[in-house]
Amino acid sequence: MDAALPPGRGRGWLSVIAPGPPGGRGGRQGLRACASSPTPESHMRVEEPNAAAAEYVHGNEDRELRRILLQAQVYAPLTEGVLRSAGLKPGMRVLDVGCGAGDVSFLAAELVGPSGEVVGVDREARFLARARQRAEARNLSHVRFLQSSLEALPAGAPFDAIVGRLVLMFQPDPVSFVRRMAEHLRPGGVMAVHELELAAMGLAHPKLPLFNRVWSWMLPTCERTGIKVHMGLELVSTLRRAGLVVDDGVVGGRLGVTPDAETTHALVETVRTLLPHMERLGVALAMEVDIDTLAARLTAELRASQGVLVPSLMVGVWGHRPGPV
Ligand SMILES: C[S@@+](CC[C@H](N)C(=O)[O-])C[C@H]1O[C@@H](n2cnc3c(N)ncnc32)[C@H](O)[C@@H]1O
Repeated sequence: MDAALPPGRGRGWLSVIAPGPPGGRGGRQGLRACASSPTPESHMRVEEPNAAAAEYVHGNEDRELRRILLQAQVYAPLTEGVLRSAGLKPGMRVLDVGCGAGDVSFLAAELVGPSGEVVGVDREARFLARARQRAEARNLSHVRFLQSSLEALPAGAPFDAIVGRLVLMFQPDPVSFVRRMAEHLRPGGVMAVHELELAAMGLAHPKLPLFNRVWSWMLPTCERTGIKVHMGLELVSTLRRAGLVVDDGVVGGRLGVTPDAETTHALVETVRTLLPHMERLGVALAMEVDIDTLAARLTAELRASQGVLVPSLMVGVWGHRPGPV
């Protein structure tokens, strides 16, 4: 499914440089080199000699790629609304941090049009390989993907807007992460982030016992693996503490109106990637989760109830970097 990438710095790799102090920022030259190099982007990678990026709890395997893609279908209309409200418009240069398989980058690319530019950055080669394939299939020449952690991303020409979806909740210190993001933003530039609020999870009417049970596994697992379960409602204070001016925000969720909707499958794929943690932490046994039948059981439960569910709530917040424009 994904292009196999050579390990380390093998033949065909362009080491887009990240010079600078240990764990620190790279020189401006790094990003420019990447922008102008004739080397195919699928071989681009920023070296991360000292980057102190935290491990990503969902891992980097195919099942996580599947989960990200499914989840992106569920959240696309909500994220598009957030980006529009934040003020993304034709001609802007946008950085998408933690871009995964590229879904938010593609939404941004629609809004900025061919006169703009979108750079998606993620540290996982496997996700980026898929993002590049998808950009090519859509004939999007104004979207580029770069392999790097945010922590190791060299400074370049500042962006007009920086966006990120479902990335802050995985950071040990979201405030310093946003501060790092903002270093790549021009004064007056837009920051738009879209994150889950897990405190408001598992809304269903009428009540669905299996659906509630799934959430009784998910919440402690998320908490105990370091996922920020209140990231959605902490976005405003996080952006402010990182020195940004918050302009506005929205809360939204997708309604699972048909029993076998993507909403159910996205939830099940999240349980699948967290299952090893659930077992390790003693939160649930693989036998009771029975992951391969979980979607069918949830679907049957929802169908029998003739109800609706909202698997999760997303909070979108946007603001700008203060300073002379
Ligand atoms: C849940 S996925 C979201 C992907 C994408 N934003 C979306 O909404 O479809 C989180 C992504 O953040 C990336 N990520 C996490 N920490 C990162 C860091 N420090 N630097 C760059 N990428 C990071 C992961 O590799 C993963 O692809």
